[in-house]
Amino acid sequence: TRGVSSLARGAAIKYIHFNNYEIDTWYTAPYPEEYSQNPVLYICEYCLKYMKSSFILQRHRTKCASRHPPGTEIYHHGHNAVFEVDGRKHTTYCQNLCLLAKLFLNSKTLYYDVEPFVFYVLTEIDEGNHHFVGYFSKEKLSGNDYNLSCILTLPIYQRKGYGHFLIDFSYLLSRREFKVGTPEKPLSDLGLLSYRSYWKLKVCEVLRLVEGVPVSVEEICSLTGMTASDVVVGLEQVGALLRSPTSGRYAIKSNLTLINTTINRWQAKNYVQVCPLKLLWKPIV
Ligand code: ACO
Ligand code: ZN
Repeated sequence: TRGVSSLARGAAIKYIHFNNYEIDTWYTAPYPEEYSQNPVLYICEYCLKYMKSSFILQRHRTKCASRHPPGTEIYHHGHNAVFEVDGRKHTTYCQNLCLLAKLFLNSKTLYYDVEPFVFYVLTEIDEGNHHFVGYFSKEKLSGNDYNLSCILTLPIYQRKGYGHFLIDFSYLLSRREFKVGTPEKPLSDLGLLSYRSYWKLKVCEVLRLVEGVPVSVEEICSLTGMTASDVVVGLEQVGALLRSPTSGRYAIKSNLTLINTTINRWQAKNYVQVCPLKLLWKPIV
């Protein structure tokens, strides 16, 4: 469900002009009133500044020097890069990013109080220009094992595996921190679909790796960076969690055919993968 249509909402931004696309919005976002009165919002795809008219955007383009997100490029491989952007150092960019994300998120999210968060922005590189694909945010200090607070793939880039890429990246950071992590709840419908598909795949990869050798939930946690409850969700989806009727205890038993099918089906999609060796990053302490 994508909430009420733009029409039913009355005066609201119906679509955004972004990277020469016109993208329909899904929800409302608290842009300053003078901007949310227009049906179209013009956004610079590099600095994420929002503008009222195509004329202002044209003029901005001649002045805006950025061709990539601010912050540090911590990953670059093939045609993709990830930038780490500190909400404290690049406040305006991060606020603009949260407003943009809100157009596609129903839940309450933060927009202005971005300082406690780091933002990981994924780009597709074309002749040195970094096109904004999506991002996830992460609390600098999380008391709840959260390794991802909010995730978005811009609709023009959805269903190409980038959500999976961003999720995989968030777990890679957790493993580098020697931690397990889980996304902040509640998840949206699309968030849940994407995570369930991710957890299932990762559990399959581990089960295939250790094939024939007993493995525990804890071991799967440390290999993947996933929490025990998310590992269990993954195991359940491939019918690998068995409860003994006599002892009531659980055991992991993998069905190799199902595991291979799951992995092969995924690989056949040929989505771009995170290459852990290309991550140049140390945890912020
Ligand atoms: N319908 C059915 N299955 C889907 C859908 C969909 N619309 N979207 C994702 N999936 C499932 C599929 O299994 C998909 O694999 P497939 O396309 O090969 O079948 C798998 O998830 C992974 O899809 P990706 O292409 O990797 O994900 P995408 O780049 O489309 O991004 C995301 C997923 C980030 C959730 C995107 O839909 C989005 O930005 N939605 C709006 C914002 C949102 O809801 N964010 C999550 C909020 S919860 C949170 O932030 C903690
Ligand atoms: Zn700009």
